[in-house]
Amino acid sequence: MAIDAGHPIPQFPGDFLWGVSTSAHQIEGAAGRGPSVWDAFSGEPGKVKDGSTAEVACDHFHRYREDVALLAGLGVDAYRFSVSWPRVESPGGLDFYDRLVDELLAAGVQPVPTLFHWDLPVGLDWLERDTASRLAEYAAGVAARLGDRVSKWITINEPAEHTLLGHALGTHAPGRQLLFDALPVAHHLLLAHGLTVQALRAAGATDVALTNSHGPTWPSSQEQPDIEAAAFYDTLLNRLFAEPVLLGEYPDGLGELMPGDVAADLKVISEPLDWYGVNYYAPTRVGAPQGEEINFGGVTMPAELPFSVRQIENVPTTDFGWPVVPEALTELLTTFNSRYTTRLPPIVITENGCSYEGLDDQSRIAYHTTHLQALHQAMEAGVDVRGYFIWSLLDNFEWAEGYARRFGLVHVDYETQKRTPKASYGWYREVLRGQR
Ligand code: NOJ
Repeated sequence: MAIDAGHPIPQFPGDFLWGVSTSAHQIEGAAGRGPSVWDAFSGEPGKVKDGSTAEVACDHFHRYREDVALLAGLGVDAYRFSVSWPRVESPGGLDFYDRLVDELLAAGVQPVPTLFHWDLPVGLDWLERDTASRLAEYAAGVAARLGDRVSKWITINEPAEHTLLGHALGTHAPGRQLLFDALPVAHHLLLAHGLTVQALRAAGATDVALTNSHGPTWPSSQEQPDIEAAAFYDTLLNRLFAEPVLLGEYPDGLGELMPGDVAADLKVISEPLDWYGVNYYAPTRVGAPQGEEINFGGVTMPAELPFSVRQIENVPTTDFGWPVVPEALTELLTTFNSRYTTRLPPIVITENGCSYEGLDDQSRIAYHTTHLQALHQAMEAGVDVRGYFIWSLLDNFEWAEGYARRFGLVHVDYETQKRTPKASYGWYREVLRGQR
């Protein structure tokens, strides 16, 4: 069936997992927890566009019951949230997740926690190898408390963005601009993932994944320098955090640049996974470096980078300016399937979403309709996909963009904390009804 917002959504398998996603720092607010590197970063002038912080965010910490009721009203099977490491380190911090999990289960919604979604406790540093063991220890404590009720776990969310934006370019916390000297961060995040898989399994978990962001990388022309630049970007985005995990090796000799006993670490990193989380938003057009600093989507890319990110022409964009190309999701998944064949565990789309203004968000409905069609095409072509999570349940703190970008199915008025379901919320509820 063609990809067209006017066409119906195809039928997915009966046991397909339908959900929505959020993350702790973006919705909870800081009540009851210690600071993370994101609190420190957003406290510095000029780091977050509207000067905002996540001090209150959606006040989910106090309003989680209302938010779980919204999930129940939507009729999702599962809810992907993240556990805040600084909260768990604070007295009584785990009690909150205990209550949240109980509330979810009572509402018939499966909890799918992510253990690290970028909110590192202040004082820890991903340049230090020891941070990897610290994550695994904290994860073991969470699993000991919640493991009797949680079966599906995600270790880390988007280590590529945390490395690239947080440590190479400095537009995200902790705001380092190390360029390629940020590579040890990538290795430590991957090691943290592997050690956390081991810790979760030791606590009895049997359904463990990593979530990576991926998207096709298209060369800006068929000239060799553009093709090479695009291939390099593809390595950073699609291979650097996938191949150590799926194949037990770094792509393109990058392992030689990593710290420590890399061969031994890769054994830990490549612990086989039960499933693999993919966050997909858009493809990227990449060409040879242009010899000067460029600003792309608010991110300053230094001239030294061996590539430059370009605009994709002639496609619609979201209110965030991100290209809308649902076919690229089919391309991504079928490419992955042929690259990694038997080494690829079942995939779950752990995030897919778009930022649009307004309560009557027909553009968001069209975005998800066409992306679900594209996903179904990939499945018909043989890709084993087991679930789909929309980013996000609520409008929330969109990192360096502050509150200006609205990804939610539910609108949040940050003055009053009033939640108002958008048209897309009703649409998703009807889609879910139709799938059962
Ligand atoms: C990916 C990240 O995991 C999430 O935190 C973010 O809000 C969305 N993409 C949208 O940018």
